[in-house]
Amino acid sequence: MKKLWIGTSWKMNKSKAEAQAWTLATREAIESSPESVQPFVIPPFPYVDQVSQAFAESKAVVGAQNMCWQDAGAFTGEVSPLHLKDCGATLVELGHSERRAQFGETDETVNKKVLAALKHGLTPLVCVGDTHQEKAWGVSIESVVRQVKIALHQVPSAEVSDVIIAYEPVWAIGEHGTPATSAEAASVHDALRVALTDSFGEDIAQRTVLLYGGSVNLENANELLSQTNIDGLFVGRTAWNAEGYCHLLEIARAHS
Ligand code: PGA
Repeated sequence: MKKLWIGTSWKMNKSKAEAQAWTLATREAIESSPESVQPFVIPPFPYVDQVSQAFAESKAVVGAQNMCWQDAGAFTGEVSPLHLKDCGATLVELGHSERRAQFGETDETVNKKVLAALKHGLTPLVCVGDTHQEKAWGVSIESVVRQVKIALHQVPSAEVSDVIIAYEPVWAIGEHGTPATSAEAASVHDALRVALTDSFGEDIAQRTVLLYGGSVNLENANELLSQTNIDGLFVGRTAWNAEGYCHLLEIARAHS
C-alpha cells in the first residue's frame, strides 16, 4: 500500500498564536490518521521549535522552508542544518519557486542544500516546476527532469529515495494560479518516475516520494491522489486553516 504524504508550508504567514491554534486544532486528526497517511507541516523559521514541540511524539513531520548548505560561520541571516535539527525539524523544503524567482535560488544551490541536508539526516523536500512559458513551449517535462537531475547530482543511489520531490507548476501556485488538471499533473509525475527509473533503477524510483503542489483544494485533492505516480499533496492556502488541512487528511484516509 502506498503512503500518502499530506503537508503544508505556511510560507510567510501566521503569528505565534495562530501557529499554536493550528497545531491544537489539527492534533487529533493527525494522530488518528492511518499508517497510510503521513502528515507534515512546514512553519516559518521562528516557529519551527514551537511547532516541533507541539508535535513531539506525534506522527507529524515538521520541517523548515529553506536552509544554508553550510554548518556554521560568517553567513549572516542564514539558518544552518544544525539549527534546524536543534529546533526539532526533520525535513527541509528546498527550491520552492518563490525562492527561485525572488531570492536567487538556483538548481546549483538546491543541489548543495540537498547534499547538506542528507549529510545531517534531514529529509530534503525538493520543489521543481515549469513556468507558464515552458508549458506553452511544450518543455515542461524537460524542465522539471533537468531540475530533478541537478538537485540529485552526486547524491549516492542509496540515498536518492530519502529525497522527496514535489512537482509544483509555477503556473499553478498561489492566488493567480490555475490548478493543474489531474491529467496534466499525472503526465509530469509519470515522466519523473521514468526519469528516476532510467537514472537509478526501478526499485529506487518506486520508493521515491513524488508530491504534487499548486492550488490543491478540497475539490481536486481526491482525483490528484488517485493518480498512480502522485504520492501525496503539498498544499498552501487550503491547508492554512486547520479545518481545510483536516479535511485533506480525511480525503487521503479514504485512499487507504
Ligand atoms: P497553493 O501553494 O496551494 O496556495 O497554491 C502551493 C505551494 O506554493 O506549495
